[in-house]
Amino acid sequence: MRPGSRAILCASATTVVWLVCAALAGGQAASAEKPLMAENVFKNVQALKGIPADEFMGTMSAFSAALGESCETCHDGSGGWATYALDTIPKKRTARRMVAMMAAINQANFGGRQVVTCFTCHRGSDRPRVTPSLADVYGEAPPEGPDEVVRPSPGAPSAEQVLDKYVQAIGGTSKLASLTSFVARGNSGGYGPEGDKRPVEIFAKAPGQRTTVIHTLDGDSIRTFDGRAGWIAAPHRPIPVLGLTGGELDGARLDAELSFPAQIKQAFGGWRAGAVTTINDRPAQVLQGTSPGGTLASLYFDRESGLLVRLVRFAPSKVGRLPTQIDYADYREVAGVKLPFRWTVTWLSGVDTFELSEVRPNVPIDAARFAKPSP
Ligand code: HEC
Ligand code: HEC
Repeated sequence: MRPGSRAILCASATTVVWLVCAALAGGQAASAEKPLMAENVFKNVQALKGIPADEFMGTMSAFSAALGESCETCHDGSGGWATYALDTIPKKRTARRMVAMMAAINQANFGGRQVVTCFTCHRGSDRPRVTPSLADVYGEAPPEGPDEVVRPSPGAPSAEQVLDKYVQAIGGTSKLASLTSFVARGNSGGYGPEGDKRPVEIFAKAPGQRTTVIHTLDGDSIRTFDGRAGWIAAPHRPIPVLGLTGGELDGARLDAELSFPAQIKQAFGGWRAGAVTTINDRPAQVLQGTSPGGTLASLYFDRESGLLVRLVRFAPSKVGRLPTQIDYADYREVAGVKLPFRWTVTWLSGVDTFELSEVRPNVPIDAARFAKPSP
């Protein structure tokens, strides 16, 4: 379905269709395209049927992260993606049983709430520890990341105050309103051996369209959000052009909306301000909100400058929340608005750092830039 055809479908609404249209109009994270279900894309799906293909790939990253192992722990990659369907490695079959066990534990004990995940037991190891280690009991506790659910802190400023300070810090409402598009160039570097710098182009149009193109040696890696639907197209992926759904679609929407933060208050609901934490040795105020699509996001603002220094969003999935963190730095003024010229995206299966060298404000952008990418 192309953007626009929703209106046609919804104009001729029967009761059932009307419910769907009402949900779409309510800003639910629904893609205009029917999502590709995992079992329709992959050859041998048994335990994780009924979830979209992009969420399925997210669960694979969650497996690897929970066990602290690479994909090849469970998969024979000798024949490329085709051999990923084989069940030759026993750990893969164990993982299937674990999916059922996890669901049964949550069902029997927690009313079906997703409380126990692979990570709850595994904590980065394939054999969960059974006995408390005396070193853990008496030694120094290892540093942990912040809690994913932020509790409102008494004494914290109101979310309104923090957001107003942020809008002021990046240029104020009238300057923000006058920035309606930009085209940026720079480079991006991965992590580890693939950390070479690759040229990047970013196209953004207010209120919520954004495309990032990374020119890799093997072809373009593209991430697009057209205002309603989103896609990732990249070389060497099991699905060359992957339609985004659920939490991934919501994440793409947030990235696009935060390119023009004038609407930041409306981008989330249920704002709450937590206790002050420390980011890069500086005090930061955290706000947490929930997007209309149900994605939980924590935003960290430098307490002094008021600028947004970190965003962590949590996409729901069948095996637990999948976190993505973006750290923003090097704010520079473009047409009176401060934009980050450097940021790092960290997710369960990768790190990518972006550095801009040029941002051209208020330039016309061809609508095709935001259309579904071709493989
Ligand atoms: C702990 C074991 C485990 C790890 C680690 C793991 N997977 Fe899987 N993978 C599975 C299981 C189990 C299935 C089958 C799921 C089902 O039956 O619904 C699967 C299925 C797949 C499939 C579908 C294959 C097909 O055609 O049927 C792909 C693709 C895949 N995994 C990719 C990955 C990638 C990429 C990674 C690393 C980021 C990864 N997996 C890490 C256990 C694992
Ligand atoms: C309630 C705790 C618990 C949960 C939840 C859990 N596991 Fe396990 N898992 C275990 C234990 C305990 C073992 C080790 C069993 C043994 O030693 O024989 C294990 C073993 C495994 C193994 C085999 C490791 C090996 O070395 O052979 C795999 C693979 C695995 N789990 C994957 C998963 C995945 C994927 C999930 C989430 C879908 C998951 N587990 C959730 C407790 C758990």
